[in-house]
Amino acid sequence: MDAKQIRADFIKFFQDKDHRFIRSSPVVPVDDPTLLFTNAGMNQFKPIFMGTNKPEYSRAVNTQKCIRVSGKHNDLEEVGVDTFHHTFFEMLGNWSFGDYYKAEAIQWAWELFTDVWGLDKNRLWATVYHEDDEAFDLWPKVTGIDPARVLKCDKKDNFWEMGETGPCGPCSEIHYYIGDDPSKQTADGVNVSDQYWELWNLVFIQNNRLEDGSLEELPEKHVDTGAGLERIVTVLQGKTSNYESDLFSTIISKTEELTGKSYIDNAAPFQVIADHIRMLSFSIADGALPSNDGRGYVLRRIDRKSGSAG
Ligand code: GLY
Repeated sequence: MDAKQIRADFIKFFQDKDHRFIRSSPVVPVDDPTLLFTNAGMNQFKPIFMGTNKPEYSRAVNTQKCIRVSGKHNDLEEVGVDTFHHTFFEMLGNWSFGDYYKAEAIQWAWELFTDVWGLDKNRLWATVYHEDDEAFDLWPKVTGIDPARVLKCDKKDNFWEMGETGPCGPCSEIHYYIGDDPSKQTADGVNVSDQYWELWNLVFIQNNRLEDGSLEELPEKHVDTGAGLERIVTVLQGKTSNYESDLFSTIISKTEELTGKSYIDNAAPFQVIADHIRMLSFSIADGALPSNDGRGYVLRRIDRKSGSAG
């Protein structure tokens, strides 16, 4: 199954559950001075979560171009070190604006992963925010998952915030064990070992973080989910590196052709080049240019870094 089909499957799955398809917003945020780059699918829906904009639909599905190189979400240093973090990636998401909540979000994520895409239930783990007993109880109830595979984790991993301020809430993540031997899985590896990949984050948006650090309740409860397309494609294609999936293989082959070097012997620099080229291309296409300050300076640094990687 190629990446195009996987992206289409995701959108169709939620359209069949009455979600409206909404196009990705640009990676340069349209109207949000708190962000240098769009860092999550929820950014364009922030006014809806805050109650300042009422949409004509209450369920949405999208695939959002995201960049994580600054602020609260910064994966720049992981690129070329592991095979599954990127400065630029696509985030698949389904959304409830004051409509369905935890039970449906959990049930549908499980249905898509296990029934539609056939992921092995014995490699999947779910985590919940340690104070969220509701989500903890819902997991086995609505999915049939082995309760031993549902873990309570702390704020660092299971309370999601887009930035220093803004909509946020407890979240529940689905992790997948990519190792060779499933009998070696242990709960201790989740969120620790790079053999366990976070594939999907289900965020239950119910708070707003204010500038003084306090939390206020939002007028309604919402669902914001984020699933990394690149990781899902890699897992469904039976690989253990995003760079071996069809989303990256053409860039890797072209780099081999242009440099006369092989990927196998030069994995880290090839990965940095492939990652950074995607980030720069989408940024420039969406209107950002390298310069001496702010967003442009980030682009200049990434450009230099990919040049020196070769
Ligand atoms: N908004 C969900 C996520 O970025 O993980």
